[in-house]
Amino acid sequence: MSSDSSLIKPEDLELKPIERADTIPSAWYTTSVFLELEENAVFKKNWQLACHESQIPRPGDSICRTVAGNPILIVRDHTDEIRAFYNVCRHRGGPLSVKSGTTTVLQCKYHGWTYLMDGSLRGVPQFDRVELFDKKDFGLKPVKTETWQGLIFISLDENSLPLRDVIGGISERISPNRLDKMEYHTTTIDLIECNWKVYVDNYLEGYHIPIVHPELSGLLDYKNYVTETAEHYSLQYSPFSDTSADNPYKAEDGQAFYYFIYPNIMLNILPGRLQTNIIEPVGHDKCRVIFDYFYTDPIKAEEQGTIQNDLEYSAKIQQEDIEICEAVQAGLRSDVYDKGRFSVKRELGVWHFQTLLKKNLLDFQF
Ligand code: FES
Ligand SMILES: [Fe+2]
Repeated sequence: MSSDSSLIKPEDLELKPIERADTIPSAWYTTSVFLELEENAVFKKNWQLACHESQIPRPGDSICRTVAGNPILIVRDHTDEIRAFYNVCRHRGGPLSVKSGTTTVLQCKYHGWTYLMDGSLRGVPQFDRVELFDKKDFGLKPVKTETWQGLIFISLDENSLPLRDVIGGISERISPNRLDKMEYHTTTIDLIECNWKVYVDNYLEGYHIPIVHPELSGLLDYKNYVTETAEHYSLQYSPFSDTSADNPYKAEDGQAFYYFIYPNIMLNILPGRLQTNIIEPVGHDKCRVIFDYFYTDPIKAEEQGTIQNDLEYSAKIQQEDIEICEAVQAGLRSDVYDKGRFSVKRELGVWHFQTLLKKNLLDFQF
């Protein structure tokens, strides 16, 4: 990474306790060259949430994602096995889809080359007279996948940690919630004019709640808001001060858990409900936030109006967060701001995230 070393000042990579640490420098949020570094050091190195099994329930179902500029196809094959490939045809780079009428063949949408579900190239129309061409050399590139509690993760790094080492402890903590019992219901997507880390930082602290979300603030027992950190993830939760039935944030019969899994995955878990958020960088000053909603019993949740409530309240909170995140991006871009400091009491999650980022960059450098 020596060619990139001017990007990062060594002192900015120093790992310090929260009591003494600075926030990461503004240039890390405002330059495309830093995002390129992150694509290699962060997004290609860590597990990414692709989707939930219930989003591709039948053989032949598939979903597309982008990881660090790489189009990825996740597909359920005819034996119910989940597979992932770079969604890039080896002919001239076209995109693939499941060939209609089959669950065993992927077909390029450009000139129709076909591949078996193991990625091997099968059909190459009108390719006679081509010399020194062996189909064996032109298979699809596979992507590593692992499933945990029904959530399908992908990693572009062959040597990434086993997924269980990343998420270890969450299953026990959220029990008896079972994420694999959830059914997909809806997706909402926001394109936000801020660096992906501005959105992540904002998710990771309740410090802004009284100012940015006054209505939500009145419902939470803010004094007892807790942030816990593990090696690769953090957890926030807050008891509710208003436990009346019309408090839409109240977790019935149980606890609400707000997990952040480094670098860009959020799992909001309430009894009977799961909302996943994936924060995808689109450019250095833009990100796409994908909210997927799941319920153990979507029909009942629909009948009870839970889904409508969840969507309305999420949209309201999200709008408040979008406005502040976009304003913060402008502040980070300004001539006068570089680094700030952390509230020890309220910003442990942000410090933890930024520390993991620094560690990732250090690992990548040396
Ligand atoms: S690019 Fe796929 S068949 Fe031509
Ligand atoms: Fe917020």
